[in-house]
Amino acid sequence: MLITWVYLLVKDKLLVWWRHRGSKAAKRCPRSGTWRVGKGDVKQGVAIVTGASSGLGLATTRELAKEGFHVVLACRSVGSGEKAAASIRASFPKASLQVSVLDLCLYKSILAFADSVEALVGNGTEHGPLRLLVNNAGVFTLTQRWTDDRIDRMIASNYLGHFILTNRLLPLLQKAAPNARVVNVGSWTHRAANFVPVRRQLLASGFDGAFRLGGPQFYTPAYSYQASKLCIIAHALALHKRCYQEAKESRRVSVNVADPGFIYSALLREVPGWLHVPAVWIYAILRLMHPARVGAQTVLDAALADPTVSGQYFFGGQGRTLEPSKVLASTGIVEDVWRESCAIQTDLRLQHGGPHIAVPGAS
Ligand SMILES: NC(=O)c1ccc[n+]([C@@H]2O[C@H](COP(=O)([O-])OP(=O)(O)OC[C@H]3O[C@@H](n4cnc5c(N)ncnc54)[C@H](OP(=O)(O)O)[C@@H]3O)[C@@H](O)[C@H]2O)c1
Repeated sequence: MLITWVYLLVKDKLLVWWRHRGSKAAKRCPRSGTWRVGKGDVKQGVAIVTGASSGLGLATTRELAKEGFHVVLACRSVGSGEKAAASIRASFPKASLQVSVLDLCLYKSILAFADSVEALVGNGTEHGPLRLLVNNAGVFTLTQRWTDDRIDRMIASNYLGHFILTNRLLPLLQKAAPNARVVNVGSWTHRAANFVPVRRQLLASGFDGAFRLGGPQFYTPAYSYQASKLCIIAHALALHKRCYQEAKESRRVSVNVADPGFIYSALLREVPGWLHVPAVWIYAILRLMHPARVGAQTVLDAALADPTVSGQYFFGGQGRTLEPSKVLASTGIVEDVWRESCAIQTDLRLQHGGPHIAVPGAS
């Protein structure tokens, strides 16, 4: 895993440099003034960041607050969210922030969170419409754990919870179209995910067994993590097709992927020190690691590019983009993941009740 990930990161860094070198720099997607709908202190609208309590989510929240958004910190606990909000206010007292509870592993928590957002932006409140959803939260678990609905926690946190949340919030984003956007946080590690035909059980189990090495007793967390990141990127591409390419202009929501590179964060907290520390040293010596605030610049690039920029994979900062893994273009995996995710969403609604959540593009 370590060698493959280093190799892939170095390759992507070289590729992005090559693609945008010299005169080709003009091909970058710069941030756009279109998002500045107000002047001075007038609010830009509402932005949601999932997993805003630490790492990349916290750094992204800080930057979006500086841009004038009212940012909803979607966190698993109020305590960690408030702590994060306080740390932002300490350096930027004008920040307009609000903490709301969201556990992406719990269907009912996703519905309750979406209801709170609806109440916030529903009737044209002071903060303006919902303009931005940053699907950032993620985990890397060393052992396999399950949600109450028997879904692998890594796939639920990193992808499936975001799939359902996005569908539920889409009508609110469409009200702000075309200045509305979804940003999915991806990772270069998705390039190591092999293609397997996606079936519902396989998806729900975090591709458990599909890539298993050495017999059924071994869970291979790196493979499941990579697969979950392949899924969140596949989701962005499927959403881009339905909500941007095939949508009427007045209802267009753009969708981009942001890959922050390798950043210092608590993501690999479960990896034992004897493996984690040398790995971090190798990345640091090769100058492949950055503070979360640097990774957040790529998220901001993806979020604040012109509204006509959609379906792009941002990597390396300064508005630079790359192509995601070829697997996504050639195997039908984008539509497979979409179809099976829709089926899981329907299963969960039948199990838990609650309102019908429309899926974009479904007739
Ligand atoms: N670190 C890297 O080098 C790197 C590289 C590429 C991509 N990424 C991606 O960047 C994103 C952020 O990761 P990070 O590095 O900033 O790690 P982090 O510091 O561990 O942050 C992860 C955040 O996600 C939240 N979260 C986890 N499970 C959740 C759930 N079920 N519901 C709601 N929130 C949940 C965590 O909340 P708690 O505090 O409550 O656990 C935390 O706020 C992830 O999607 C990750 O895959 C990271």
